Parts: sequence; structure tokens; C-alpha cells
Amino acid sequence: MEQTQTPVRKQRILSGIQPTGTPTLGNYIGAMRNWKLLEDEYDCLYMVADLHTITVRQEPAKFRQNAMQMLGLLLASGLDPKKSVLFFQSHVHQHAELAWLLDCYTYMGEMSRMTQFKDKSAKHADNINCGLFTYPVLMAGDILLYQANLVPVGKDQTQHLEICRDIAQRVNGLYGNVFTIPEGYYSKVGARVQSLQDPARKMSKSDAEDSFISVLDTPDVIRRKYRRAVTDSLASIRFDPENQPGVSNLLSIISALTGEDMEKVVASFEGKGYGDLKAAVTDVTIETLAPIQAEFARVMKDKKYMEEVYREGAQRAGAIAERTLQKLMKKIGYVAK
Ligand code: TYM
Repeated sequence: MEQTQTPVRKQRILSGIQPTGTPTLGNYIGAMRNWKLLEDEYDCLYMVADLHTITVRQEPAKFRQNAMQMLGLLLASGLDPKKSVLFFQSHVHQHAELAWLLDCYTYMGEMSRMTQFKDKSAKHADNINCGLFTYPVLMAGDILLYQANLVPVGKDQTQHLEICRDIAQRVNGLYGNVFTIPEGYYSKVGARVQSLQDPARKMSKSDAEDSFISVLDTPDVIRRKYRRAVTDSLASIRFDPENQPGVSNLLSIISALTGEDMEKVVASFEGKGYGDLKAAVTDVTIETLAPIQAEFARVMKDKKYMEEVYREGAQRAGAIAERTLQKLMKKIGYVAK
């Protein structure tokens, strides 16, 4: 007799990226690139985190354009919408609803300790809104709605992930097994790509132009930015983030993009100088981004295809999200619909 095997459910992944302009090489190395690598092994949902974006004021037409561009870039980075669910967060209303419920299980003290809140409220002192304060609760809900096991993110999101686990454990403690407790998933190299101008800070698109590479930068711009990247006066190519943060950052980018071990990368520069290091990081960056940029230009012309992708994505995501939301509402004691 033929034996039927019960299929083992793949582990689930959820991650998101904000459409706040063109993503940087940091976003690409720390997050987007891994999303593609995980696509076959896991059941993946990836969203354009557009609800998060309005914690900082947006110009409507530009915001809409950035959101479509971000979806275009996710497709161009190789994600396959037949395998992964790709969607806009704002199209799945359960995100906003769960955020409210979870707000009531999160303490003011926990939120006020978040470093991102402190940083952003210093940067936007004229608009310290409640959304900025409760942002980590919305993010916790994003993850918990899908019962995600793993969350592939860069190191800057660690604190948000920890609070997500705390909230989930608190709710589970009160009502039993409601949420899967998620784990962070970080790249071995490149989980924190640093600024080219100030290697003590993370590469961020809200800093000065020359401090980051955007995934849509032309070869000339990439060349110029790396040429101006800060190194040091030690004239030695070693991976030593503490004493040589600029040089180590460039080495990490090379290692992340080529997939070669750091030791091998460092060895390949023996007897060479910073000019060679900059030339190598320039070449590998241009090589990596060229096919993404070409595919991006192609996919952005196909609005109909993009619409199909995000509509179907929202439907598939919404079905999962609704189950979790109903489960929690029942446990809390709401009258069933
Ligand atoms: P966001 O849009 O700032 O960044 C998207 C992803 O890129 C990573 N990243 C970096 N990785 C390495 N080096 C850098 N310099 C660098 N800069 C950014 C981030 O860690 C992130 O993984 N709150 C999130 C979006 C979000 C989310 C979620 C993520 C909303 N809901 C649920 C995971 C799960 C954010 O603002 O990422």
C-alpha cells in the first residue's frame, strides 16, 4: 500500500520595509537580499510597511510613488510572488486593528525606552505624534498576525523584535496559546551596514547623500560615493570594526555581496592599498545592482502585473491575519460576529 505522507508545514517568515524613499545598500544587504534566499525553504510574507511611514509627514503623491517603487524593487530583487506573499500593509486592515488591541497590553514605560523613539523624536521635534510612540506595537502586530517563526531584519530592529516577543508572551500568559513567539534572523555579515561618511552610524537614507548608496544609484554615483568614503590613516586592510570601522565596513559589503568568507576577502587585499579596496567594493556593488535596476525599469512599466501581485498578496495575507485576529478577540471576550 502506498503511504501518504503528511506534509510538514514550513516555518513562517514575515518581514517588512518602509517606503520612505529608495532603499539603501544597507536595506538590501541587511534585509531584501535575505528575503529572496529564504523564499524556498520557508512560507514567506513580505510587506511594504506603509502604515508605519506616516509617523513622519509624507507628501501624498510622493508617498504613493515611493510605495509602488518599493514593491517594484522587491520584485526586481528577485522575489517570486508565486512563492512569497507580497503586499501593502495598509491593504490588510487587521494590522491596524491588532495594533489597537495590543496597545492595551503594552506599557508606556516599555515604549519610552525604545531608542528609535528617542532618536526620531529628537529629529522631528515638531511632530512627536502618538504613532511614533506606539510604532513598535504596530510592528509587533505585523509579526504576530501571521504567527511568524522567523523575522529577517537588520540589527537595528533587535529592540523592536524583543518588545514583540514580550508582548506576545504577556498575551499568551493571560489567554493561553494565542501567538507564536518569533525569533530574529540576521545575516552573518552585513546585518549592520555603516554610513560611508561616519562609520560609527548605520547607513541610513535620511542622512546626507554621500553617506549611503541607494539601490538605484548609477555606476558613476556609486564610484563617486565610495571614492569619498571615510577610511583611516593606518594604511592596512584588516577586519577590525573597532579600530578601523570605515575599512571594515567596506570589507563587510564585499563579503556580503560576494558570499566569500571575511578571511578570504581580507587575504585578497594583501599588499594592496585603500584605492584597491574602494575599486573592488565599487565593482561588486555595481555588478550586484545592475540586474536589479534593469529588472526594476522593466517591472515598473507593467502596472497591471504589479496590481495583480499586490491584490492577490493582500487577499492571501488577509485570510491568515483574520484567523489570528478572531482568535485573540474571542479569547479577550468580544461577542462573536
Ligand atoms: P526599515 O524600512 O527602516 O528597513 C528595512 C530593513 O532594512 C534593514 N536595514 C539595515 N540592515 C543593515 N544595515 C543597515 N544600515 C540597515 N538599514 C536598514 C532593517 O533592519 C530592516 O530589516 N520597522 C521596520 C519595518 C517593519 C518591519 C515590520 C520589519 C514594519 N513592520 C515587521 C519586520 C517585521 C523598518 O522601519 O525597517
